[in-house]
Amino acid sequence: MKEFIQSLPKVELHLHIEGTLEPELMFKLAERNKLTLPFASISEVRNAYNFHNLQSFLDIYYQGAEVLLHEQDFFDLTWAYLLRCREDNVIHTEVFFDPQTHTVRGISFDVVVNGIHRALCKAEKELNITSQLIMCFLRHLDEEAAFETLASAQHHKDKIIGVGLDSSELGHPPEKFERVFKLALEQGFLTVAHAGEEGPASNIHEALELLKITRVDHGVRCSEDEMLVEHLIDKRIPLTVCPLSNIKLKVFQEMSEHNIVNLMRKGLCVTINSDDPAYFGGYMTDNFLAVHDAHPMTSAELAQFTFNAIEASFISEQAKTKLRAMTQDYLS
Ligand code: HPA
Ligand code: ZN
Repeated sequence: MKEFIQSLPKVELHLHIEGTLEPELMFKLAERNKLTLPFASISEVRNAYNFHNLQSFLDIYYQGAEVLLHEQDFFDLTWAYLLRCREDNVIHTEVFFDPQTHTVRGISFDVVVNGIHRALCKAEKELNITSQLIMCFLRHLDEEAAFETLASAQHHKDKIIGVGLDSSELGHPPEKFERVFKLALEQGFLTVAHAGEEGPASNIHEALELLKITRVDHGVRCSEDEMLVEHLIDKRIPLTVCPLSNIKLKVFQEMSEHNIVNLMRKGLCVTINSDDPAYFGGYMTDNFLAVHDAHPMTSAELAQFTFNAIEASFISEQAKTKLRAMTQDYLS
C-alpha cells in the first residue's frame, strides 16, 4: 500500500508556503542574507519543533520566516516545495501565503507575491503541476491591517484566487473579519478560513455564515455538533484536514483518535493536506501514510480523498475533469 499511496495522484488544498521552510534552506537563506539565527545547527532547529499547542508553533514559525527577504528567497522556498510535490505526485496545489508576516518587517507585498508566483508558473510549465494562490489574513492582527493587505492585493488579482484567515484562532473569532471578507467577496475573491482547529464548532458556523466561506480549513471540531456535521454533508462543504499537524499541535492526542476517516465514511467532503510540512513531520504522502497506518483503508477509500480534493478545488470544471481522469487512469 505504501507504493500505491506514494504514486496516487494527490491534490493539496491546505498548505502554508512559509510552513515549507526546511531548516536546511533556513540556514542557507540566513547565510545569503547575512542574518544570524538563534540556532547553532540544523538539528537544534529540529529539536525546537516540539509544540504543545497552536501558539507555541506560531511563535517559532513566524521567527523562521524572518530569513525571507528578497523575491528570490520566496521563489526558492516555493520551488523547493514544488519539487517535493513532484515526489509525492501532487498534481494540483492551492497555496496559502501570509503577506503580513513579511510586510510588518518592511518587505513589500509585491516582492512576496512575485517570488511565489514565478515559481508556481515555472512548475506548471516544467513539472506539470497546476496551482492557485490564496492570501491569508493574520487573525491576531486587527481589522484595519487586513483592509490594508486587501488593498495591496488589488494589483495582483490575476495571481490570487481567494482570501483566507489563519494564525491564533482562540480569542480571534471569524466575526472580527466580517467586513473585510465582505469587501473581498465584492471584489471577486473566494473565501476560506481556518475554523474549528483549536476553536469550537461555533467558529465553523460563524465562518460559514459571516465570512461566506466555500471550504473550511481544519474544521475537525465539527464532530462536537452533530447537526453541523449533517449540514456539512448535505451541502457538500469541504474540510481541508491536516492530520500530522493536528497531532503535532495536540488537537488530537494520537492518530488513532483522529476523526478524518470516520468523517470520510459518513460522506463528508474531507481532504488530506500537509499544512506546514517542514514543521509537522511530513508532506502529502506522509500524511496519507500516517492516517492509513492508524485507520487502514481500501485503495478506493484512499483515492476518495483525491476525488474530494478535486471537487473542493478552485479550478474550472474542465480542469477538474482532467484531474479526475488522471486519478481514474491510475486506479485502472
Ligand atoms: N493554524 C493557524 N494558523 C496557521 C496554521 C494553522 O494550522 N499554519 C500556519 N498558520
Ligand atoms: Zn493551516
